[in-house]
Amino acid sequence: MVANPGAAGENAAVEIAGTIALVTGASSGIGASTARALAAAGARVALVARRADRLDALAAEIADGRAASFVCDVRDPRQIEATVAAIGARLGPVDILVNNAGVGRYLGFLESGPEDVATIFETNLYAALHFSRAALPGMLARRRGHVVNVASIAGRIGSRNHTIYCAAKFALAGFSESLALELDGSGVGVTLVNPGIVDTAFFDHGSFAAFPASARARAIPPERVAAALVRAVRRDLPEVTVPAIYTLGTLFKAAAPRIFSRVMRRFA
Ligand SMILES: NC(=O)c1ccc[n+]([C@@H]2O[C@H](COP(=O)([O-])OP(=O)(O)OC[C@H]3O[C@@H](n4cnc5c(N)ncnc54)[C@H](OP(=O)(O)O)[C@@H]3O)[C@@H](O)[C@H]2O)c1
Repeated sequence: MVANPGAAGENAAVEIAGTIALVTGASSGIGASTARALAAAGARVALVARRADRLDALAAEIADGRAASFVCDVRDPRQIEATVAAIGARLGPVDILVNNAGVGRYLGFLESGPEDVATIFETNLYAALHFSRAALPGMLARRRGHVVNVASIAGRIGSRNHTIYCAAKFALAGFSESLALELDGSGVGVTLVNPGIVDTAFFDHGSFAAFPASARARAIPPERVAAALVRAVRRDLPEVTVPAIYTLGTLFKAAAPRIFSRVMRRFA
Protein backbone atom coordinates (compact mmCIF):
# COMPACT_ATOMS: atom_id res chain seq x y z
CA MET A 1 0.00 0.00 0.00
CA VAL A 2 1.06 3.56 -0.57
CA ALA A 3 1.73 4.88 2.93
CA ASN A 4 -0.06 7.80 4.51
CA PRO A 5 2.14 10.76 5.35
CA GLY A 6 2.52 12.21 8.77
CA ALA A 7 1.40 15.73 9.63
CA ALA A 8 4.41 17.15 7.79
CA GLY A 9 3.15 15.58 4.56
CA GLU A 10 6.31 13.56 3.86
CA ASN A 11 6.08 9.83 3.39
CA ALA A 12 8.91 7.99 5.10
CA ALA A 13 8.63 5.20 2.55
CA VAL A 14 6.03 4.35 -0.05
CA GLU A 15 5.26 0.65 -0.41
CA ILE A 16 4.53 -0.33 -4.01
CA ALA A 17 3.61 -3.98 -3.41
CA GLY A 18 -0.15 -4.46 -3.49
CA THR A 19 -0.92 -1.19 -5.26
CA ILE A 20 -2.79 -0.62 -8.52
CA ALA A 21 -0.59 1.42 -10.88
CA LEU A 22 -1.72 3.11 -14.10
CA VAL A 23 1.03 3.82 -16.65
CA THR A 24 0.26 5.90 -19.75
CA GLY A 25 2.42 5.36 -22.81
CA ALA A 26 3.04 1.78 -21.64
CA SER A 27 3.33 0.39 -25.20
CA SER A 28 6.92 1.57 -25.66
CA GLY A 29 10.11 2.98 -24.16
CA ILE A 30 10.06 4.50 -20.68
CA GLY A 31 6.41 3.56 -20.07
CA ALA A 32 6.93 -0.11 -20.91
CA SER A 33 10.07 -0.25 -18.71
CA THR A 34 8.22 1.49 -15.88
CA ALA A 35 5.32 -0.97 -16.13
CA ARG A 36 7.78 -3.90 -15.88
CA ALA A 37 9.56 -2.28 -12.91
CA LEU A 38 6.31 -1.54 -11.03
CA ALA A 39 5.04 -5.08 -11.63
CA ALA A 40 8.37 -6.47 -10.39
CA ALA A 41 7.92 -4.33 -7.26
CA GLY A 42 4.56 -6.03 -6.65
CA ALA A 43 2.03 -3.63 -8.22
CA ARG A 44 -0.79 -4.66 -10.55
CA VAL A 45 -0.36 -2.47 -13.58
CA ALA A 46 -2.91 -0.97 -15.97
CA LEU A 47 -1.13 -0.53 -19.30
CA VAL A 48 -2.53 2.46 -21.23
CA ALA A 49 -1.77 3.53 -24.82
CA ARG A 50 -3.33 3.32 -28.32
CA ARG A 51 -1.58 0.20 -29.70
CA ALA A 52 -3.49 -2.78 -28.29
CA ASP A 53 -1.11 -5.39 -29.77
CA ARG A 54 1.88 -3.91 -27.95
CA LEU A 55 0.00 -3.57 -24.68
CA ASP A 56 -1.27 -7.15 -24.89
CA ALA A 57 2.26 -8.45 -25.61
CA LEU A 58 3.60 -6.60 -22.56
CA ALA A 59 0.72 -7.84 -20.38
CA ALA A 60 1.51 -11.41 -21.50
CA GLU A 61 5.22 -10.88 -20.76
CA ILE A 62 4.52 -9.51 -17.25
CA ALA A 63 2.10 -12.45 -16.72
CA ASP A 64 0.54 -13.74 -13.47
CA GLY A 65 -2.37 -11.35 -14.04
CA ARG A 66 -0.15 -8.52 -12.81
CA ALA A 67 -0.89 -6.37 -15.88
CA ALA A 68 -3.88 -5.61 -18.10
CA SER A 69 -4.27 -3.56 -21.29
CA PHE A 70 -6.51 -0.52 -21.62
CA VAL A 71 -6.57 1.06 -25.06
CA CYS A 72 -6.94 4.84 -24.85
CA ASP A 73 -6.05 7.86 -26.94
CA VAL A 74 -4.89 10.20 -24.19
CA ARG A 75 -5.68 13.24 -26.37
CA ASP A 76 -9.39 12.54 -25.79
CA PRO A 77 -10.60 13.54 -22.28
CA ARG A 78 -13.72 11.32 -22.59
CA GLN A 79 -11.55 8.27 -23.29
CA ILE A 80 -9.44 9.18 -20.24
CA GLU A 81 -12.49 9.28 -17.94
CA ALA A 82 -13.79 6.00 -19.36
CA THR A 83 -10.35 4.35 -19.02
CA VAL A 84 -9.92 5.30 -15.35
CA ALA A 85 -13.44 4.03 -14.66
CA ALA A 86 -12.73 0.75 -16.53
CA ILE A 87 -9.49 0.25 -14.57
CA GLY A 88 -11.38 0.87 -11.30
CA ALA A 89 -14.01 -1.73 -12.23
CA ARG A 90 -11.50 -4.37 -13.43
CA LEU A 91 -8.44 -3.95 -11.17
CA GLY A 92 -9.54 -1.58 -8.41
CA PRO A 93 -8.93 2.12 -7.73
CA VAL A 94 -5.67 3.61 -8.97
CA ASP A 95 -3.02 4.13 -6.25
CA ILE A 96 -0.09 5.14 -8.47
CA LEU A 97 -0.68 7.23 -11.60
CA VAL A 98 2.27 7.56 -14.00
CA ASN A 99 1.61 10.30 -16.56
CA ASN A 100 4.21 9.26 -19.11
CA ALA A 101 2.63 9.31 -22.61
CA GLY A 102 4.39 11.90 -24.70
CA VAL A 103 5.54 12.92 -28.14
CA GLY A 104 8.18 15.30 -29.44
CA ARG A 105 8.91 17.16 -32.66
CA TYR A 106 12.36 18.47 -33.56
CA LEU A 107 11.13 21.75 -35.07
CA GLY A 108 11.83 25.45 -34.65
CA PHE A 109 8.96 27.60 -33.36
CA LEU A 110 7.94 29.00 -36.77
CA GLU A 111 8.13 25.54 -38.36
CA SER A 112 5.66 24.20 -35.78
CA GLY A 113 2.13 24.33 -37.14
CA PRO A 114 -1.08 24.38 -35.08
CA GLU A 115 -1.37 20.58 -35.38
CA ASP A 116 2.16 20.13 -33.91
CA VAL A 117 1.24 22.45 -31.03
CA ALA A 118 -2.04 20.62 -30.37
CA THR A 119 -0.41 17.16 -30.56
CA ILE A 120 2.38 18.10 -28.17
CA PHE A 121 0.25 19.98 -25.62
CA GLU A 122 -2.64 17.48 -25.60
CA THR A 123 -0.37 14.43 -25.27
CA ASN A 124 2.33 15.72 -22.91
CA LEU A 125 0.37 18.17 -20.75
CA TYR A 126 -3.43 18.07 -21.00
CA ALA A 127 -3.54 14.26 -20.72
CA ALA A 128 -1.63 14.46 -17.42
CA LEU A 129 -4.12 17.04 -16.11
CA HIS A 130 -7.14 14.95 -17.19
CA PHE A 131 -5.75 11.67 -15.75
CA SER A 132 -4.90 13.44 -12.49
CA ARG A 133 -8.39 14.96 -12.30
CA ALA A 134 -9.90 11.49 -12.83
CA ALA A 135 -7.68 9.56 -10.40
CA LEU A 136 -7.08 12.06 -7.57
CA PRO A 137 -10.53 12.13 -5.92
CA GLY A 138 -10.28 8.40 -5.14
CA MET A 139 -6.72 8.74 -3.84
CA LEU A 140 -7.73 11.67 -1.62
CA ALA A 141 -10.77 9.81 -0.29
CA ARG A 142 -8.52 6.86 0.67
CA ARG A 143 -5.76 9.24 1.87
CA ARG A 144 -3.15 7.38 -0.12
CA GLY A 145 -1.68 7.51 -3.58
CA HIS A 146 1.04 8.91 -5.79
CA VAL A 147 1.10 10.89 -9.03
CA VAL A 148 4.22 10.69 -11.21
CA ASN A 149 4.68 13.17 -14.06
CA VAL A 150 7.31 12.22 -16.64
CA ALA A 151 8.49 15.56 -18.01
CA SER A 152 12.06 16.02 -19.27
CA ILE A 153 15.25 17.92 -18.66
CA ALA A 154 13.66 19.96 -21.50
CA GLY A 155 11.07 20.93 -18.87
CA ARG A 156 13.78 22.63 -16.81
CA ILE A 157 16.21 23.93 -19.46
CA GLY A 158 15.18 25.45 -22.81
CA SER A 159 16.33 23.61 -25.91
CA ARG A 160 16.70 24.73 -29.52
CA ASN A 161 14.15 23.17 -31.94
CA HIS A 162 12.18 21.88 -28.98
CA THR A 163 10.36 25.16 -28.38
CA ILE A 164 6.80 23.79 -28.21
CA TYR A 165 7.89 20.58 -26.45
CA CYS A 166 9.78 22.63 -23.83
CA ALA A 167 6.73 24.87 -23.34
CA ALA A 168 4.57 21.79 -22.62
CA LYS A 169 7.16 20.11 -20.37
CA PHE A 170 7.90 23.33 -18.41
CA ALA A 171 4.14 23.56 -17.83
CA LEU A 172 4.04 19.93 -16.68
CA ALA A 173 6.90 20.65 -14.24
CA GLY A 174 4.97 23.68 -12.90
CA PHE A 175 1.83 21.56 -12.52
CA SER A 176 3.74 18.87 -10.68
CA GLU A 177 5.48 21.25 -8.28
CA SER A 178 2.26 23.17 -7.52
CA LEU A 179 0.13 20.03 -7.14
CA ALA A 180 2.64 18.67 -4.61
CA LEU A 181 2.11 21.78 -2.48
CA GLU A 182 -1.67 21.58 -2.79
CA LEU A 183 -1.68 17.92 -1.76
CA ASP A 184 0.67 18.38 1.18
CA GLY A 185 -0.66 16.41 4.14
CA SER A 186 -3.34 14.66 2.05
CA GLY A 187 -1.62 11.26 1.89
CA VAL A 188 -1.00 11.69 -1.84
CA GLY A 189 2.53 12.33 -3.08
CA VAL A 190 3.73 13.82 -6.36
CA THR A 191 6.99 13.08 -8.21
CA LEU A 192 8.36 14.90 -11.25
CA VAL A 193 10.74 12.83 -13.40
CA ASN A 194 13.14 14.63 -15.76
CA PRO A 195 14.85 12.21 -18.14
CA GLY A 196 17.76 13.34 -20.31
CA ILE A 197 18.17 11.68 -23.71
CA VAL A 198 16.73 8.16 -23.62
CA ASP A 199 17.09 5.45 -26.26
CA THR A 200 13.44 4.95 -27.31
CA ALA A 201 11.11 5.25 -30.30
CA PHE A 202 10.58 8.90 -29.30
CA PHE A 203 13.14 9.80 -31.98
CA ASP A 204 11.38 7.84 -34.75
CA HIS A 205 9.35 10.88 -35.87
CA GLY A 206 10.69 12.24 -39.18
CA SER A 207 11.50 15.66 -37.70
CA PHE A 208 14.30 14.03 -35.65
CA ALA A 209 16.27 13.23 -38.83
CA ALA A 210 18.06 16.53 -38.12
CA PHE A 211 18.70 15.69 -34.44
CA PRO A 212 22.48 15.63 -33.78
CA ALA A 213 23.96 12.13 -33.74
CA SER A 214 26.38 13.24 -31.01
CA ALA A 215 23.41 13.91 -28.71
CA ARG A 216 21.75 10.57 -29.58
CA ALA A 217 25.03 8.84 -28.70
CA ARG A 218 24.58 10.01 -25.09
CA ALA A 219 21.20 8.25 -24.78
CA ILE A 220 20.61 6.12 -21.71
CA PRO A 221 18.41 2.96 -21.66
CA PRO A 222 14.75 3.40 -20.60
CA GLU A 223 15.27 0.83 -17.82
CA ARG A 224 17.52 3.34 -16.08
CA VAL A 225 14.74 5.95 -16.05
CA ALA A 226 12.22 3.36 -14.85
CA ALA A 227 14.50 2.29 -11.97
CA ALA A 228 15.03 5.92 -10.92
CA LEU A 229 11.27 6.57 -11.14
CA VAL A 230 10.41 3.61 -8.91
CA ARG A 231 13.13 4.59 -6.42
CA ALA A 232 11.80 8.16 -6.35
CA VAL A 233 8.23 6.97 -5.68
CA ARG A 234 9.44 4.68 -2.88
CA ARG A 235 11.26 7.62 -1.29
CA ASP A 236 8.43 10.09 -2.04
CA LEU A 237 10.89 12.42 -3.80
CA PRO A 238 9.36 15.56 -5.32
CA GLU A 239 11.72 15.46 -8.31
CA VAL A 240 14.34 13.25 -9.90
CA THR A 241 16.58 13.94 -12.89
CA VAL A 242 18.17 11.05 -14.82
CA PRO A 243 21.11 11.17 -15.36
CA ALA A 244 21.55 13.26 -12.19
CA ILE A 245 24.44 15.21 -13.74
CA TYR A 246 21.87 17.34 -15.66
CA THR A 247 20.80 18.83 -12.33
CA LEU A 248 24.05 20.81 -12.50
CA GLY A 249 22.65 22.56 -15.59
CA THR A 250 19.62 23.85 -13.68
CA LEU A 251 21.87 25.02 -10.82
CA PHE A 252 24.23 26.73 -13.29
CA LYS A 253 21.28 28.44 -15.01
CA ALA A 254 19.93 29.79 -11.71
CA ALA A 255 23.33 30.94 -10.45
CA ALA A 256 24.69 32.53 -13.63
CA PRO A 257 21.95 32.96 -16.25
CA ARG A 258 23.97 35.11 -18.68
CA ILE A 259 26.96 32.77 -18.77
CA PHE A 260 24.65 29.77 -18.95
CA SER A 261 22.82 31.29 -21.93
CA ARG A 262 26.14 31.93 -23.73
CA VAL A 263 27.23 28.35 -23.13
CA MET A 264 23.88 27.02 -24.40
CA ARG A 265 24.01 29.22 -27.54
CA ARG A 266 27.50 28.02 -28.32
CA PHE A 267 27.28 24.32 -27.50
CA ALA A 268 23.66 23.13 -27.12
N1 LIG B 1 13.24 9.51 -25.16
C1 LIG B 1 13.73 10.60 -24.61
O1 LIG B 1 14.88 11.02 -24.92
C2 LIG B 1 12.93 11.35 -23.59
C3 LIG B 1 13.60 12.33 -22.84
C4 LIG B 1 12.90 13.05 -21.89
C5 LIG B 1 11.56 12.80 -21.67
N2 LIG B 1 10.91 11.86 -22.41
C6 LIG B 1 9.49 11.66 -22.15
O2 LIG B 1 9.28 10.32 -21.76
C7 LIG B 1 7.93 9.93 -22.07
C8 LIG B 1 7.95 8.58 -22.77
O3 LIG B 1 8.62 8.72 -24.01
P1 LIG B 1 9.53 7.57 -24.64
O4 LIG B 1 10.88 8.13 -24.80
O5 LIG B 1 9.34 6.31 -23.90
O6 LIG B 1 8.89 7.52 -26.11
P2 LIG B 1 8.16 6.34 -26.91
O7 LIG B 1 8.96 5.09 -26.84
O8 LIG B 1 7.89 6.94 -28.25
O9 LIG B 1 6.80 6.14 -26.12
C9 LIG B 1 5.77 7.09 -26.17
C10 LIG B 1 4.52 6.46 -25.57
O10 LIG B 1 3.48 7.45 -25.56
C11 LIG B 1 2.31 6.85 -26.08
N3 LIG B 1 1.45 7.83 -26.73
C12 LIG B 1 1.78 8.81 -27.61
N4 LIG B 1 0.68 9.46 -28.02
C13 LIG B 1 -0.38 8.87 -27.39
C14 LIG B 1 -1.78 9.08 -27.43
N5 LIG B 1 -2.34 10.05 -28.19
N6 LIG B 1 -2.56 8.29 -26.66
C15 LIG B 1 -2.02 7.31 -25.90
N7 LIG B 1 -0.70 7.08 -25.81
C16 LIG B 1 0.11 7.84 -26.57
C17 LIG B 1 2.80 5.82 -27.10
O11 LIG B 1 1.83 4.79 -27.26
P3 LIG B 1 0.92 4.52 -28.57
O12 LIG B 1 1.64 5.08 -29.75
O13 LIG B 1 0.76 3.03 -28.58
O14 LIG B 1 -0.36 5.23 -28.28
C18 LIG B 1 4.03 5.29 -26.39
O15 LIG B 1 3.68 4.24 -25.53
C19 LIG B 1 7.37 11.07 -22.91
O16 LIG B 1 6.56 11.89 -22.09
C20 LIG B 1 8.59 11.84 -23.37
O17 LIG B 1 8.30 13.21 -23.61
C21 LIG B 1 11.57 11.12 -23.37
